[in-house]
Amino acid sequence: MDGVELDGVEPVRGCLSIVVLGASGDLAKKMTFPALFNLYQQVPAYTVQFGWLFIQGFLHSDEVRIFGYARTRNLDDEFRYRLHRFLDHDKVVSPAQTEDVSEFLHLVKYISGSYDAEEDFRSLDKEINEHKSSKVQQDGSSRRLFYLALPPSVYPSAYKMIKLFCMNKSKYGGWTRIVIEKPFGKGFGLLEKLSNQIGELLHEKQLYRIDNYLGKELVQNLMVLRFANRFFLPLWNRDNFDNIQIVFQEDFGTEGRAGYFDEFGVIRDIIQNHLLQVLCQVAMEKPVSVDPEHIRDTEVRVLQSVCPIQSEEVVLGQYEGYCEDPTVPDDSNTPTFATIILRTHYEKWDRKALNSRKSEIRIQFKDVPGDIFESKKHGRNELAIRLQPSEAIYMKLTIGVKQPGLEMDTTQSELDLSYKQCYQGITIPEAYECLILDTYDSGHQQHFVRRDELTEAWKFFTPLLPRIENGEIKPILYKRGTTGLLEADDLVQKAGYVQT
Ligand code: NDP
Ligand code: BG6
Repeated sequence: MDGVELDGVEPVRGCLSIVVLGASGDLAKKMTFPALFNLYQQVPAYTVQFGWLFIQGFLHSDEVRIFGYARTRNLDDEFRYRLHRFLDHDKVVSPAQTEDVSEFLHLVKYISGSYDAEEDFRSLDKEINEHKSSKVQQDGSSRRLFYLALPPSVYPSAYKMIKLFCMNKSKYGGWTRIVIEKPFGKGFGLLEKLSNQIGELLHEKQLYRIDNYLGKELVQNLMVLRFANRFFLPLWNRDNFDNIQIVFQEDFGTEGRAGYFDEFGVIRDIIQNHLLQVLCQVAMEKPVSVDPEHIRDTEVRVLQSVCPIQSEEVVLGQYEGYCEDPTVPDDSNTPTFATIILRTHYEKWDRKALNSRKSEIRIQFKDVPGDIFESKKHGRNELAIRLQPSEAIYMKLTIGVKQPGLEMDTTQSELDLSYKQCYQGITIPEAYECLILDTYDSGHQQHFVRRDELTEAWKFFTPLLPRIENGEIKPILYKRGTTGLLEADDLVQKAGYVQT
């Protein structure tokens, strides 16, 4: 590929320019900037341990400059004022952090420009170079991270502009990396077209496709839990597991994003990406090593092994009132709820506007062979991994313990690893913090989606999606705030799930 800059040496120190394109938008305000702020003000554990005098956070103020870029003609001050208000009030930072917010905002500069104008990107490049010159005394290398917090329709022109005008050209080395947000395509055909377009401009190594579920603490923990513990290794297979549920639910509706949501629906918004990534972590074989590419190879194999979806194993729903949003057509067929059985023995549930918000994995074991305590009557052993809220790993023992006392009674109990109790005083980082840190620090792509993973993920949802869009499969209406759909409960029970 022509024009790939000096990327052989990948420094983790030196001048760092982070450019957030689409800085005026929802994601930038709610996720990207707060994550950058937290990285700035959190101190790595080892610096505390060694009591260094000059303590730096995960973003070093003497190296970094953050550029917010968007078309809106804001003044730099006004942009920083808005960010200040958001970080200070909406994020409710502590009084001690208020000072940090002000210091952090000194690192931020707003630049107004469009996503397809050469002169605007030339000016952006000039700004980045000026920042680099002010830091050149350190080692002269230059790291450029472009975060595309933009609608995907704008990606092609933004890639082109970055490629033409804003790549790192420092003779001292460095890199240019681009972070992109989901949705990655809308179906298999479009994905291939987009991937080819990107592939002509950028190397896969320069591209970080964010899926925030891959940054969640308990998702990242799955590999360790499974492959570093002797007692899980022989158990983690179909001989012992009856079924696995991957559950995602929210207690709110489309919340101002109905226009986007109606075009994509719950399968594209959540299942095809977040929940499939979780599935990969649950179902993958042991990778050859912890090398990020070995791990991603193993994940791809999971996706390749899933059987085609049967439409009789799909239940869709739409909450009442969804179509009342002015940006949604009155006759929209878009599902806000979906239960899909993936064979063999994987289930995924996903629903919006229900009674509570949670994401969890429930692995249900087969019944005990030669069951002398009749434990079957009381349910099954389950291993639950709660991703949010209140992160926890717990094992349901059905009646697997003796009731303490003189009688020989049995009782249901749990082996419980609740993070709040076990790791008191430790703040679990937000997914975006972990992922953004990877992009400029280690550069490892283990927690980012590779092109072939996406291809496989779209392949098996693509036959189902047109059938929903042409009305062949219709969503069932449900009331906001309910616990779910009876039809979906029946479906998962038929597939082997036992209420425990
Ligand atoms: P927005 O719709 O808020 O768009 C971000 C910015 O892009 C806008 O402020 C606007 O800035 C610019 N923009 C919007 N539409 C256009 C257009 N048609 N042409 C050119 N520029 C445009 O998006 P979000 O911030 O919600 O999301 C950004 C990306 O992140 C999307 O890909 C989205 O799918 C993804 N995402 C968002 C999540 C969220 O919670 N918001 C969650 C997960 C992923 P300006 O006009 O000032 O240039
Ligand atoms: C986003 C979806 O990717 O994930 C949203 O676009 C959804 O619709 C969100 O609300 C859920 O993420 P989390 O981290 O809050 O579970």
